Amino acid sequence: MTHPLEELREAALAEISAAPEERALDAVRVRYLGRQGSISAWGERMKSLSKEERPVVGKLLNEARTAVTAALEEKGSKLRAAMEASALADLDVSLPGTPNELGTLHPLTQMLDRAIAIFRRMGFALAEGPDVEDEWHCFDALNTPPDHPARAEQDTFYLPDGRLLRTHTSTVQIRTMEAAPPPIRVIAPGAAFRRDEVDATHSAQFHQIEGLYVDKGVTVADLKGTLEFFLRELFGPETEVRFRPHYFPFTEPSLEIDVKSKTLKSGEKWIEVCGCGMVHPAVFEAVNRARGDAAFDPETWTGFAFGLGMDRLAMILFDIPDIRLFAQNDLRFLQQFA
Ligand code: DAH
Repeated sequence: MTHPLEELREAALAEISAAPEERALDAVRVRYLGRQGSISAWGERMKSLSKEERPVVGKLLNEARTAVTAALEEKGSKLRAAMEASALADLDVSLPGTPNELGTLHPLTQMLDRAIAIFRRMGFALAEGPDVEDEWHCFDALNTPPDHPARAEQDTFYLPDGRLLRTHTSTVQIRTMEAAPPPIRVIAPGAAFRRDEVDATHSAQFHQIEGLYVDKGVTVADLKGTLEFFLRELFGPETEVRFRPHYFPFTEPSLEIDVKSKTLKSGEKWIEVCGCGMVHPAVFEAVNRARGDAAFDPETWTGFAFGLGMDRLAMILFDIPDIRLFAQNDLRFLQQFA
């Protein structure tokens, strides 16, 4: 006569072998070996058995548990293997993979890297300031009081609290001098903003490289030498450089610089690339007032400053016809500078 435990074992093994997928298999496990399972129930029943019966049933119970557990495991791994195989069956390993495309530096970044490398060789350090500025750093400290007509030319975007988006990187001149006494030799690349009509050569956001050199005995000759060297390194040794008198409130004298080179696409045309001049004593005095000392005594220190149009330089260097291309993120444009 077969014991009911043996019958249970055989029934469980039959159901396991018939289970079509993992969920059905788990249901079998619960039914026989779960806490309420029919094989598990015999564990409870043991207590009520006689001394003679107990070892016999205990042995059968152990055998049933071991056999069913092993069968569950074996069938489980078979089912999983079959599932993986069917998932891979649809996979065409001969299809080409997804290529990992290599990015490139934006032309403005490339331009900036070149400029920084050239100024580094002349001992210029990097400085920076915030895009969102106050009127004092953007205008007043740069000898441009509220009623000054230059403010209208440099109209910008104002925040409700009166702060503004800087119209030039010249703000960094002031911030650098507030932070440290002379001598100073820095460049400050960054974004500038203006309420310009947007066209091929004007953008509401563009970029400049500001420069400031303050020391004893700095003259216009130093300014000319530095910027001529920079422009010839950038555009090639045959580049012609022209200094034109101009007006900026924060420099005296003030100059604008044009370049021309046969090797450039612009050919015979002079192109304006830079505003510059000798730092106005009123700028030093505004800084002294803010610092509360006389670190920048205009009787002792002189300096030159310049603002290079970075987008303009990049347009000349890479022969780019429209400033708007820099911000459009069109890969067909950007990939040409790989
Ligand atoms: N900030 C001027 C502008 O945006 C450019 C400039 C002119 C900067 C003369 C200077 C400078 O540092 O000395 O038009």
